[in-house]
Amino acid sequence: DWTMASYREEAIRKIREQVGDKRVICGLSGGVDSSVAAVLIHEAIGDQLTCVFVDHGLLRLNEAEEVVTMFRDNYNIPLIHADEADLFIGALEGVSDPEVKRKTIGRLFIDVFQKYANQIEGAEFLAQGTLYPDVIESVSFSGGPSVTIKSHHNVGGLPEKMGLKLVEPLRELFKDEVRALGRELGLPEKFIGRHPFPGPGLAIRCPGEITREKLDILRLADAVYIDQIRKHGLYDEIWQAFVAILPVRTVGVMGDGRTYDFACALRAVTSVDGMTADYYPFTHEFLGETATRIINEVKGINRVTYDITSKPPGTIEWE
Ligand code: XMP
Repeated sequence: DWTMASYREEAIRKIREQVGDKRVICGLSGGVDSSVAAVLIHEAIGDQLTCVFVDHGLLRLNEAEEVVTMFRDNYNIPLIHADEADLFIGALEGVSDPEVKRKTIGRLFIDVFQKYANQIEGAEFLAQGTLYPDVIESVSFSGGPSVTIKSHHNVGGLPEKMGLKLVEPLRELFKDEVRALGRELGLPEKFIGRHPFPGPGLAIRCPGEITREKLDILRLADAVYIDQIRKHGLYDEIWQAFVAILPVRTVGVMGDGRTYDFACALRAVTSVDGMTADYYPFTHEFLGETATRIINEVKGINRVTYDITSKPPGTIEWE
């Protein structure tokens, strides 16, 4: 696509002009935006860029390994893997209020990011994958008091606190344009088309108290569900799909025994921008087959439900 090819050239020129010979830190989340920003900046300034990947232990199955392999091994981008799962999960122990969860994760995220970023000597810039909608969303509350439904996890205020200047090469782009730029930069298609994943990760898909046991069960169930969606060729029609593990155990029968395991809810929505969403109309066959697979393949779950709430009145995530 010629437009993206020229955008890429122009963005690289601007990054070089802004950064000169200084060092840049980029927080990688594993999402499309920060990944495209990192690859673009790396193309512009090479090893003047160091990425910091904060692994809070709330990622999906194999996700951390995939991010580390792709950036470190495939792109040779210097990457610090901050494996801080114990810290985050320890701090979340006994917490079940959604806002407390979000704020705890957000605060720790900033602390951890700062700790690792401080190890990168001479850094003067912080790169972020801010998109155009992020830029307008932060100033576009029109009329009446705005209501905070959920505290969003981001690193707002961090650059000032750390005395760093911002590099935001995606500021003029919409999501579909970022994907096009990612393709232009040669990022794998499977990676570019990935569903959005929230900063607080699996914590907000585990209503009630978070335990390592529940997180492990959730990761497996989610992997089976996504595998089903991919096998049926539905992944790209869906904005986001995931499993939430419910804070309730139910009775079931398996073979000739009684089970007493967790119930889970499947979520899948279509959406244009995440602001509104409709539940995805899976066939009964698909839902039945998926429930059977999850119950057979995931120890710890014996009941599967499908969430048919649209947004509004629901939100996409459960917390
Ligand atoms: P909700 O649940 O509010 O989510 O309908 C709308 C979209 O935003 C994502 N989401 C987040 N993304 N940090 C993020 O980066 C967050 O704290 C966060 N909370 C929700 C959610 O996955 C959906 O795509």
